[in-house]
Amino acid sequence: MQEHVSRRSFVKVAAAAAPAAALPALAASDEVTVGVIGAGGRGYYLTERLYAGNRNVKVLSVCDTYQGNLNRIKDRVQTMGKNAPQTTADYQQVLANKDVRMVIIATPEHLHHRMTLEAIKAGKHIYIEKPLAHTIEEGEEILKASATSKGKIQVGTQNRSNSLYGMARQMIGQGIIGECHYVRAFWYRNALPGGAAAWRYNVPKDASPENTDWNRFLGEAPKREFNKERYYQWRLYWDYSGGIATDLLVHQTDITNFVLGKTFPETCVASGGVYRWTDAADDREVPDTLSVIYEYGDKFHLNYSCYFGNDNFGYGEQFCGNEGTIEVLNRSTLKFTPQKFGDKTAGNRKEAVVELIANDNLAVEAHIRNLVEAIQGKAQLVAPVEVGQQAAVSGHMATLALRNKKMVRWDAKNRKAIIG
Ligand SMILES: NC(=O)c1ccc[n+]([C@@H]2O[C@H](COP(=O)([O-])OP(=O)(O)OC[C@H]3O[C@@H](n4cnc5c(N)ncnc54)[C@H](O)[C@@H]3O)[C@@H](O)[C@H]2O)c1
Repeated sequence: MQEHVSRRSFVKVAAAAAPAAALPALAASDEVTVGVIGAGGRGYYLTERLYAGNRNVKVLSVCDTYQGNLNRIKDRVQTMGKNAPQTTADYQQVLANKDVRMVIIATPEHLHHRMTLEAIKAGKHIYIEKPLAHTIEEGEEILKASATSKGKIQVGTQNRSNSLYGMARQMIGQGIIGECHYVRAFWYRNALPGGAAAWRYNVPKDASPENTDWNRFLGEAPKREFNKERYYQWRLYWDYSGGIATDLLVHQTDITNFVLGKTFPETCVASGGVYRWTDAADDREVPDTLSVIYEYGDKFHLNYSCYFGNDNFGYGEQFCGNEGTIEVLNRSTLKFTPQKFGDKTAGNRKEAVVELIANDNLAVEAHIRNLVEAIQGKAQLVAPVEVGQQAAVSGHMATLALRNKKMVRWDAKNRKAIIG
């Protein structure tokens, strides 16, 4: 029976999740006051889930650099929270607000680094969306700063709070699939003919330099003229995003680490390109087609694929053990299939399926609640900075491998990626 999914390695995972520093615990009845920085698709949704999953929270401040999204989140807080929040396009005003204890940062990827460092400095508790940062080095800086943080920091890899992955982890820990040396993870998407191309989200009709703060969006990214596509479809450009690797794949390497007690891969090769969305007018830079292979140090192989031109296989991870398979599909179905050897079934086991509708909503609520409860001294974080950085590193290794067309190795001693 394998060693690496033993009870001992789960204890190791739990230890890694222990908070580095602690504020005095609040009484359980104490309210957690919140500021939201970045209220686009995700920030808006997280705010809704914050209210849905917690009783004792109050959003005091909201920040967005597009006026339309700022108005929208202000209205949502007024409806759900029954208070009028402070509104601003300057995130430093949220951080300067002494009444705000916790901030949710859901801005584009390239802004995570500066905002998280400053939020740590301001002594806030932080929910930072994945990926932790735009480069490995930025993530390492956040990790270092987090060691002295007065607040708790949760990375937005919510699969860790999804009950089905918890179940998979427990089943595999009990040896139900035998040894597991191989995981297949995938995310397939498509768009209808005539619909928007992948990640070409609608640009608001009223968007203009007057209501869209372009310089604040750029932050430390290379300067350029106002460009609506880059602002509203930032995922498609390397200056602001790692594309599939840091937007989607990180969820799946993260949850593989969680389920099997892994940390960093040793090597990574990647291949892909823009094959599907090739209209001349589409200036996207990040691939729509990506395959990545990771080797971990302990005889473990992760095979990842993503394509934006066919969604038949959807989203999932398949934990392929020598005695059975556990698949978690679309974050809402867990399937167990025992291996057959001739006419015998390994361990006399039967197939099993658990299906939980809308399970990602519950996972996000639980993930935010885990942070709120950690702030209140009632829980330990499930996605602290170190595991967020482990997930992000695998994404960045894939981007480096793809863009350099070379194998990338993780130098664990010096915590650096080595190309070639
Ligand atoms: N965990 C998940 O499943 C999940 C899902 C979706 C998105 N995300 C993450 O959430 C983050 C945001 O993604 P999104 O889909 O909401 O993008 P989005 O483009 O819909 O929203 C980004 C928002 O940030 C605002 N913004 C830009 N610059 C800003 C600045 N300097 N200060 C304040 N606001 C600023 C924009 O106006 C916009 O409203 C990304 O890191 C993404 O990877 C995570």
